[in-house]
Parts: sequence; structure tokens; C-alpha cells
Amino acid sequence: MNVVVFASRKGGSGKSTLAAHLGSYMAEHSRPTLLIDADPQGSLALWHRVRGSRDLPLHLGTKHLAATLAKARRAGAEWVLIDTPPNAEAPVAEAIWHADLVVIPMRPGLFDVDAVQATIKMCRDLKKPYAVVINAAPAKNGSEDPSVADARGAMQALDVPTWSGQITHRPELSLSLAHGAGVSEFSAGSAGSEEIGSLWRALTRSFEAMKAMAGTEARSA
Ligand SMILES: Nc1ncnc2c1ncn2[C@@H]1O[C@H](COP(=O)(O)OP(=O)(O)O)[C@@H](O)[C@H]1O
Ligand SMILES: [Mg+2]
Repeated sequence: MNVVVFASRKGGSGKSTLAAHLGSYMAEHSRPTLLIDADPQGSLALWHRVRGSRDLPLHLGTKHLAATLAKARRAGAEWVLIDTPPNAEAPVAEAIWHADLVVIPMRPGLFDVDAVQATIKMCRDLKKPYAVVINAAPAKNGSEDPSVADARGAMQALDVPTWSGQITHRPELSLSLAHGAGVSEFSAGSAGSEEIGSLWRALTRSFEAMKAMAGTEARSA
């Protein structure tokens, strides 16, 4: 079971957006997935209510997180996606403690680059694998927008693993959520849907690599 936590101190960076789109992508591709909304603001839970379907279960809150994860594992969940609040430290730290991978969405911009540092430190302190995902980026125009290249450079200078792709700022990504859907359900084949699919493939590859590495370490121990 792959536990992915979406975390960033910056509100509006795209935690709930990425959790919802990836969750619905997984459900659409028959991957048993549990969503956990650990943010009292309840954005993911709101989207889930609008969605109103049973293909993607959602658990609200961080109480009994360990028990919730154990139950999901027994029930055969392949993926667990945990959305977290921007500031409450303890619930975020608890979620990260349970993570196999922390996804840190980041808009390109000075304040955003600065704001992710606290989350990166938390992941490093807890020795958790993490990756920054550049979100709500200006569309590529042949090459990457200078703001994205800049943000990428800042992450590289800090030795922060950063997804090589980007999630572009696209109306279909917010419009689909208003309909309780993910972009791949709402607007299949759209550029936004392609980007979410490619983020999903990148996540899958990361987990395969982590598992292969764990296997090698276990064999050489
Ligand atoms: N790639 C994107 N394209 C268009 N709108 C986006 C994108 N990412 C986020 N948004 C919008 O920005 C707002 C904040 O995103 P949200 O996921 O709620 O951030 P967070 O959960 O980190 O606070 C939402 O209205 C969302 O629809
Ligand atoms: Mg949110």
C-alpha cells in the first residue's frame, strides 16, 4: 500500500486539487484508493460529497490515523492519499510520519519557493522521501516559462527532488472539481488530464524504485 501525503505550509498551492485529481484518476483506473481529508477546512471532503459516488472512499480527520491505515491495508487499498492543512503542525507531522512519499505542491514564485522550506525540513527531520510538484504553472510555450525554470533552479540549489513535469494552471482542473469529478473523468484527453496521468506515472515509478531499493537493501543485510 502506497501512502502519499500532500503537504505544504502554503495555502492554495494545490494540495487538495492534486489529491482529488489523482484520487479520481486512480479510481477510474480501478486502483483501490482511500482518500483521507486531514484538513479541518474540508476541501477534499466537500469535493467528495459533490461527487457522491462510492468508487472512492474518504475518511475524515486524523484521529486514529494508524488504525485507519491498518484497516485500509486489510481492505486491500493500493493507494492512500492524505490531504493536510497548511498550518496546523501536529496533524501534518503525524500524517508525514505515516507517509511513504510526501508530495509538496508548489506554485512558481518567490513566496512559494520560500514557503515550502518548512515542509521540506519536516520531511528531512522525519527521514521521509518527498518531492516538489510544480503546480498552477504558466503553460509551456515551446520551453518552460521562466518562472518555472527559476523555481526549478531554486529547488536544485537546495538539493530538493522536484518532478520534471508540471501541472499547468488550467480551467478544466478547477471546473472539474466543482462537478465532483477529476479532470480525466470530466475532460478525458485534455491537456490537464494528460498532465495528471503523467504525474500518476511518475508516482508509480517512484514507488517501484523505492520498493526495488528496499528489496536490494533487505537482500544485502
Ligand atoms: N493547476 C491548477 N489549475 C487551475 N486551478 C488550480 C490549479 N491548482 C489549484 N488550483 C485552484 O487554486 C485554488 C487553491 O487550490 P487548493 O488545491 O485548494 O490548494 P491547497 O489545498 O494547497 O490550499 C483552488 O481554487 C483550485 O481549484
Ligand atoms: Mg486544501
